[in-house]
Amino acid sequence: MAKPTRPIPVPALFMWAHRAYIEALEEPEFMNIPVKTAQPLGQPLVDPFGRAITYIRVSVTDRCDFRCVYCMSEDMTFLPKQDLLSLEELDRLCTAFVARGTRKIRITGGEPLVRRGIMTLFRSLSQHLDSGALEEVTVTTNGSQLARHAQELADCGVKRINVSLDTLDPDKFKAVTRWGDLAKVLEGIDAAQKAGLAIKINAVALKGVNDDEVPQLIEWAHGRGMDMTFIEVMPLGEVEAARVDQYWPLTQLRASLLDRYTLEDIDYQTGGPARYVRVKETGGRVGFITPLTHNFCEGCNRVRVTCTGTLYMCLGQEDAADLRTPLRSSESNEALNAVMEAAIARKPKGHDFIIDRTTRQPAVGRHMSVTGG
Ligand SMILES: C[S@@+](CC[C@H](N)C(=O)[O-])C[C@H]1O[C@@H](n2cnc3c(N)ncnc32)[C@H](O)[C@@H]1O
Ligand code: SF4
Repeated sequence: MAKPTRPIPVPALFMWAHRAYIEALEEPEFMNIPVKTAQPLGQPLVDPFGRAITYIRVSVTDRCDFRCVYCMSEDMTFLPKQDLLSLEELDRLCTAFVARGTRKIRITGGEPLVRRGIMTLFRSLSQHLDSGALEEVTVTTNGSQLARHAQELADCGVKRINVSLDTLDPDKFKAVTRWGDLAKVLEGIDAAQKAGLAIKINAVALKGVNDDEVPQLIEWAHGRGMDMTFIEVMPLGEVEAARVDQYWPLTQLRASLLDRYTLEDIDYQTGGPARYVRVKETGGRVGFITPLTHNFCEGCNRVRVTCTGTLYMCLGQEDAADLRTPLRSSESNEALNAVMEAAIARKPKGHDFIIDRTTRQPAVGRHMSVTGG
């Protein structure tokens, strides 16, 4: 992007700098999409506790156009680009998992939709949807780029997306995301609904920030036919004092809803960790993701892959496997499959998140933007 040569007004300069930043995030990258040939199906990946791994969450970038306070520091240092898997490598990796029984892929980040060329990955994955090898491709996004990508996502077979939105108040939104613009996200949500995508709104429950807005969020989401899910703030990355003080157990959030609504337990599952209720008054669903107060590990069928090809078998444990080395060392998937198998054989039974109120240390020191939410 060419730098303006004439003096320009401050707001325009800010817009230019912001745009230049976004473009810098979006490294030029092009992917030739080979037509997928039918692959012989390998043995399904099953962990030592008999859980078949059918769901992978793939982070396609550590970069983001927001700086949410619970997720990133303001002056994040991002990974060198050569450390990131190329779009071709991401496609090969996803395809290798599909051949071993993965039925559902969630693309996340950082902000997945700021990665340049990302739609070529969705296009490529859509071939697995067409063949029936894959049941679902979904995305978790902050919504900032949805206005321009929603229709293409739908065209690539994406049916459901998660949009993270903690507040409907523009000032609070700015305070939480630091760099975000609520109007753009709302525009993105409009575009996604117009394209026919089903949306689940995810809000991190933050005491003193959005605790007074919960009914408004629910009624807004349900009024537009969207599910509304609340997430307990997780102790990832450096937990500053604010993160401990903002921790609001969902048991309390749920109890506060009972003053106003009738909550009916329902047996709705999306393959994710949320537990759902139906709000009788609105007819819509509210989900709760409670990693701190409720252990959801028993039925865990998922693993996470970072944008550098590191496979985490559990969000709450440090153990990981490097998939990038076998990916880059050979064009055949033999070594890759061997590493995948060895890793799944080490998938732990469960995790143990704790925010230690004395030391204020997180249980796991990884940022969510690295692992992918
Ligand atoms: C890391 S983001 C990546 C995808 C995309 N940028 C977005 O915000 O949806 C995925 C999800 O993780 C959540 N998240 C990030 N840090 C968190 C934390 N410390 N505790 C709980 N949820 C967190 C975000 O709110 C978001 O819903
Ligand atoms: S939660 Fe999502 S939008 Fe917010 S900083 Fe993290 S990656 Fe970016």
